[in-house]
Amino acid sequence: MKIKPHPIQKWPERIPLDVIKCISHHLKDKSICDIGCGAGDLLYEIRKLGLSDKITGIEFKYKFIQMIEEMGGTDRDYIIRNDFTKIPIPKAEVYLIWIDESDFSNTHNCNNCHDVILDKLPNSIIVDLTNSPSKSHLKKMEEKLYLVEKIDYDYNEEKYGLSEPELLEPYKIENYPLKGTRKAIIYEKRSD
Ligand SMILES: C[S@@+](CC[C@H](N)C(=O)[O-])C[C@H]1O[C@@H](n2cnc3c(N)ncnc32)[C@H](O)[C@@H]1O
Repeated sequence: MKIKPHPIQKWPERIPLDVIKCISHHLKDKSICDIGCGAGDLLYEIRKLGLSDKITGIEFKYKFIQMIEEMGGTDRDYIIRNDFTKIPIPKAEVYLIWIDESDFSNTHNCNNCHDVILDKLPNSIIVDLTNSPSKSHLKKMEEKLYLVEKIDYDYNEEKYGLSEPELLEPYKIENYPLKGTRKAIIYEKRSD
């Protein structure tokens, strides 16, 4: 199957945007930082929907930086091109996190990316979008943070799967259904 890019997407294999309507009540008019923002699509859409224009993303992978630059790049100027473990994380009221632990451990020789992130964050709302979170991940988050809300949301990426010739390379899907339900878990980090 070939995948048609979403009109705003620079990362065409993934369409993460279905989640926004389910978490919009946590985003409205807040400053938002997406830690590991890929090509910045979530933030772009959040701004486009008028939810917030105080947006920052952090991404270090060359393939995304290159993709953004090849496609112009100026509409993604809210992206800090760096490794979040090596810089102070920008202050925000809401953080989006969707980091794959195994991806992180390959690049950082360290298994506890969420510990690293949580230690660096100020008091804030944290939206955990981790795909199929493990029991140990959920336990760790609940030990360190206050649970605010768990949201199951439906996503459907099949609508972008069209068979027009000008579309992108076939997307290889391994353990990644194009349609289903995912979780968004909202936490609060506070000092008491
Ligand atoms: C699952 S993607 C989420 C993308 C984005 N939040 C979205 O939904 O469109 C996780 C991203 O985190 C990035 N990432 C992982 N470790 C990172 C690090 N140490 N510094 C910056 N980005 C990192 C990966 O390169 C990847 O693009």
